[in-house]
Order: sequence, then C-alpha cells, then structure tokens
Amino acid sequence: MLVLGFESSCDETGVALYDTERGLLAHALYSQVEMHAEYGGVVPELASRDHIRRALPLTEIVLKNADKTLKDIDGIAYTQGPGLAGALLVGTSIAQSLAFALNVPSVAVHHLEGHLLAPLLEENPPEFPFVALLVSGGHSQLMCVEGIGEYTLLGDTLDDAAGEAFDKTAKLLGLGYPGGPALAKLADSKHAERGKTHFKLPRPMLNSGDLNFSFSGLKTAVLTMVNNNSPLTDDVRADIAWEFQEAVTEILTVKCMSALRETGLDNLIVSGGVGANSRLRTRLNAATKRKMCKVSYPRLEFCTDNGAMIAFAGAMRLRVKINKNQDYSFGVKPRWDLAELTKP
Ligand code: KG4
Ligand code: ZN
Repeated sequence: MLVLGFESSCDETGVALYDTERGLLAHALYSQVEMHAEYGGVVPELASRDHIRRALPLTEIVLKNADKTLKDIDGIAYTQGPGLAGALLVGTSIAQSLAFALNVPSVAVHHLEGHLLAPLLEENPPEFPFVALLVSGGHSQLMCVEGIGEYTLLGDTLDDAAGEAFDKTAKLLGLGYPGGPALAKLADSKHAERGKTHFKLPRPMLNSGDLNFSFSGLKTAVLTMVNNNSPLTDDVRADIAWEFQEAVTEILTVKCMSALRETGLDNLIVSGGVGANSRLRTRLNAATKRKMCKVSYPRLEFCTDNGAMIAFAGAMRLRVKINKNQDYSFGVKPRWDLAELTKP
C-alpha cells in the first residue's frame, strides 16, 4: 500500500511516500526558518501562506523521486493536529481534496504519534512495548507505548517544554532564532574543551519522585545569571550554554531511566527535535548501556518535523483499518490529546 503523507503543523512543510511493502520511498521538506527568523519566532499567518506555496511542488518532487504518479497512490495521511490552526488547515485541505479527487482513503494523523513512531522508520526498528521520551518545541512527555494507538502518559512537563526551554535560553544568550540547535552547538564547543564552569544551575524536579518535568525555573535562573554577568563575553555565554545543556540532559536522562525501572521495560526510544541533541544521546547511550537496556532514535533529520513520520504513522493505521464511510470534509485539531487515540 502506497501512502502519501503531508506535514504542515508549524513552520515546516513535509511530504513523503511510504510503501508498506518497500518502506520509505521518498521524502521532501521545506523549512520556513529563514522567513520567520527576522521576527524572532513563527508568524502563524506567514506560515500558512508558505505551506500553500510549498505543498504541491514538494509533492511533485516526491512522486518524481519515487518514480510514481498520483495514480499509484493508495491512501493519503495528513497531520490534523496539534499545531497552528491555519497551517494545519493547509495540509488538511490539500490532503482531503487530493484523496477525494483520487478516490482513495485518507487518515488524520496526530503529529505526536508521528514523532513517536519515527524511530520505526530506521533499520532494525525497536519492538513494542517501549518507553518513549518525546521532547520537542511544544512537548516533553514520557510515554509507555504498547502498540500503535496504545499510549499511556507516564510524565509530562508542568510548564515549558524542553525545546521551548532551549529556545528561550538561547534568546536570553542572544543566539537568535531558532535557538535550540545554536545553543547546543555553543555548549558542545565548550564541552570539547572539557571546560569546567563555575556557573551552576538547578536541576528542577530531579528528585521529585515522579516522572514529571519543569523547565521554566531554569530559564529564570539563566536570566539572573545573564543579568549578573552583562555584558556577556563569548566565554561566559558558552559556559552558561554548557551548564544549561548539562542540566536539561541530566534531568531527561534520570527521568528516562526511572521510567524504564518503573515500567519494567528495557527498551527506550527518543523522538522530537531535542532528540537530535548529541549530549542527550551520549548520556542516554551510556545510562541505558549500564542497565543493559536498548535505546533508539530517528535519524537526525526525522527528529524534527517531517513528512516521513506522518506518511508512516498514516500507513500503519490505513493498512489495518480503512474507514468504510470515508469522510472528505476537513477540520483541524490545534489542541489534541495523544491519550485520545485508540488502536486502529
Ligand atoms: O519536533 P520539532 O521539530 O517541532 C515541534 O514539534 O515542536 O522540535 C523543535 C524543537 C525546537 O525547540 C528546537 O530548538 C529543538 O527542537 N531542537 C534542539 C536541537 N535541535 C532542535 N534542542 C536541543 N538540541 C538540538 N540539537
Ligand atoms: Zn514536531
């Protein structure tokens, strides 16, 4: 079964073709980062308009790269939420119109289910059940995943998401937008020098006894540090970035290991934009190895938003269940709880 997938929940237009027999055939992505950079963040209306410009050219590229035509498509998957309403509406309306015109089934995909299943696109994919750490710009959750649509929330952030904390801290350090990867790069440069810093940040909720997170206090602590050390030298900036990354990656690692212990599982997957962080990967690799557990990640480009994870999640649902009363109307779910999903 050949499934065309659309992702347009935020500032990336992603399109991909996934074949349930042959795997991922092609994928293409357009990032709007440059367009939003001058505003210091995503401008929703500009995002929607740009998705309109990119979606069909990307679809043509993907079909051409996979040597397929529209007639070969058996089903269409699209991100219905959560995300920016206008941006979601673009992908949803294009996907539903195309499905209607081609007379093929379509499936609405939850963006976070896409992230959760992204490691399954790799060779030697992890087997269910597993613990999933989902760390993106909007979410920081630990989940017990027993199968497609079988998700139990183990822990959540009480305030900022991990990626949001990276972005806000980067802004405080004057690193621009999007700050997460820039902050990580600066921190890693410090780490390469094996530098020790006298800056010390708290590890909020490290010993809270549950699997929840809280990152907003860290950002406030960084703000105090910045105010006390202004104007920042490059060295101080790198020191703070390094200590911030140490704090976040330590908290995430400790909570992942607690989640494995509490569930009795020995299999961890990590997904979402912060899953691309190399310090986090180093720490998780070491911690899981010590406890004889496995850890899997998506390839770097599938940690952040992409069409491949949506085509894949949609294909996993469509191959099990095709809605007999196919509905081609369209609506989006800017807010959508992952726990509402059920087995296909
Ligand atoms: O999953 P994603 O592309 O979008 C959401 O669904 O939110 O994640 C984007 C987030 C941003 O907050 C970005 O700063 C963060 O992931 N991020 C990183 C890294 N790469 C992306 N954070 C830390 N280290 C990185 N290498
Ligand atoms: Zn995402």
